[in-house]
Amino acid sequence: MGKDVIIACDFPGMEETMTFLEKLGEERPYLKIGMELFYAEGPGIVKRLKGRGHRIFLDLKLHDIPNTVGRAMKVLDGLGVDMCNVHASGGVAMMAAAAENFSGTLLGVTQLTSTTEEVMQKEILIDRPLKDVVAEYGGNCRRAGLAGVVCSPLEAPVIHGECGGDFLTVTPGIRFAGDAAADQRRVTTPSVARELGSDYIVVGRSITAAEDPQAAYIKCRKEFIG
Ligand code: C5P
Repeated sequence: MGKDVIIACDFPGMEETMTFLEKLGEERPYLKIGMELFYAEGPGIVKRLKGRGHRIFLDLKLHDIPNTVGRAMKVLDGLGVDMCNVHASGGVAMMAAAAENFSGTLLGVTQLTSTTEEVMQKEILIDRPLKDVVAEYGGNCRRAGLAGVVCSPLEAPVIHGECGGDFLTVTPGIRFAGDAAADQRRVTTPSVARELGSDYIVVGRSITAAEDPQAAYIKCRKEFIG
């Protein structure tokens, strides 16, 4: 599977999303739709953007009992979603139920990058080193039949070491050199993500808030894919 740049469409609705996409000219990038946009617009936004020629990563991070997750994934599969995800903390049976009902690329969320090791140990009550938890969750995702994980580019080498080089790492937390990090803490540039072995990078504000989003997208692809 080839490397690619996925643009995070963190917009409140269809109108703002279309205004942004029009700034990209003829480009038809892979797009990530998150909870905000999906809950605001419903399944219609997936169909509309697919119809425009985009591949879609629907970032809904499912986590429920296996039967419920399996049935929900079947619905998302029917929308033609290309990539989707579930929480690895839901367990192997839940992830396997998801995988059985989804024909696209299914990813596991290991630990959100907003979670520090201290919070994971004191509030999520997993009393282990964060790095070990991410690696072991990666192994569970692979055993459940998932195609890869969402993780920090800095964790990509650990995941590839644990799960094999063909196991996908889809990595947010990307900034161009010189950009503001904003609320992200552990950020890397597209070229560093490439060196670390990321398979897909998820880029939001560095493209969506750029003065020329089309130029920023092209620059990002060039740095990441070459
Ligand atoms: O604007 P920015 O490039 O920081 O956006 C990154 C995108 O990736 C956002 O949609 C954010 O929710 C998502 N994300 C993340 N860290 C994770 C999982 C998802 O930043 N661990």
